[in-house]
Amino acid sequence: MTLQPLATAVHRAYTADLDAGDFYRMLRLRVDVFVVEQECPYPELDGRDLEETTRHFWIDSADGYVLGYLRLLEDPDGTYRIGRVCTAKGARGLGLARKLMRAAVAEVQHSPVVLAAQTYAADFYRTFGFVEDGDEYLEDGIPHIDMRREPRRPLCAGRFRAKSATPPEAAPGPACAERLPERGLNHVPAGWSADRVLRRCTLIRTQGVRQEAGGNPARSAPL
Ligand SMILES: CC(C)(COP(=O)(O)OP(=O)(O)OC[C@H]1O[C@@H](n2cnc3c(N)ncnc32)[C@H](O)[C@@H]1OP(=O)(O)O)[C@@H](O)C(=O)NCCC(=O)NCCS
Repeated sequence: MTLQPLATAVHRAYTADLDAGDFYRMLRLRVDVFVVEQECPYPELDGRDLEETTRHFWIDSADGYVLGYLRLLEDPDGTYRIGRVCTAKGARGLGLARKLMRAAVAEVQHSPVVLAAQTYAADFYRTFGFVEDGDEYLEDGIPHIDMRREPRRPLCAGRFRAKSATPPEAAPGPACAERLPERGLNHVPAGWSADRVLRRCTLIRTQGVRQEAGGNPARSAPL
């Protein structure tokens, strides 16, 4: 097995569209990592791979092995669930899991997403916007913690909802963001929610509060 990933292209497919060989290699990596390496006899083949909505994300090696993998499920309440995040032992630390996570999270960014993290990997998931949702627990003898990521709303969702029938999910976020300077907001500090941005725009419009040139708008007036 070559450990060099094939240009680290992330593949994605529903189970029904998978080639049998590819699917076998994904399941083999999952079993190699979660059952053999982690010495944990548990029902790795849990039936959920056969659900119609289940999606697989993976990265191949140049010679056709699966080096990195994750599974994206849709729970009955519409919440998405990421799981089985794994990288072949010899291919770790190359950024494969990060690429897979980025692809899966981008695909469902406007929906709530949950995962059951092995506790040691919680910091990794936090970098994608997941936060702890409950206390640590043991599953099959391994410490886990549930994590949840709230949907990311397009920047100006409220404005689109108010003025047109266009659903917020369809609102073009970046184009909308480009118009913020027209509304007196030249700089959106990191970490501001869409609601906070909208409140600031409203304050500027209704009370003439301006952002100080080059300054932090959070300091120029309370929200
Ligand atoms: C966790 C795992 C998927 C990471 O895969 P990877 O391809 O090596 O990860 P990346 O190279 O993309 O690194 C992503 C981040 O993971 C974190 N990470 C990787 N291995 C880690 C470890 N053993 N402990 C803590 N953090 C770790 C690093 O913080 C890294 O962050 P950085 O990009 O800022 O350096 C891999 O170690 C693995 O398969 N582990 C066994 C299976 C498992 O436990 N999966 C997690 C289930 S919740």
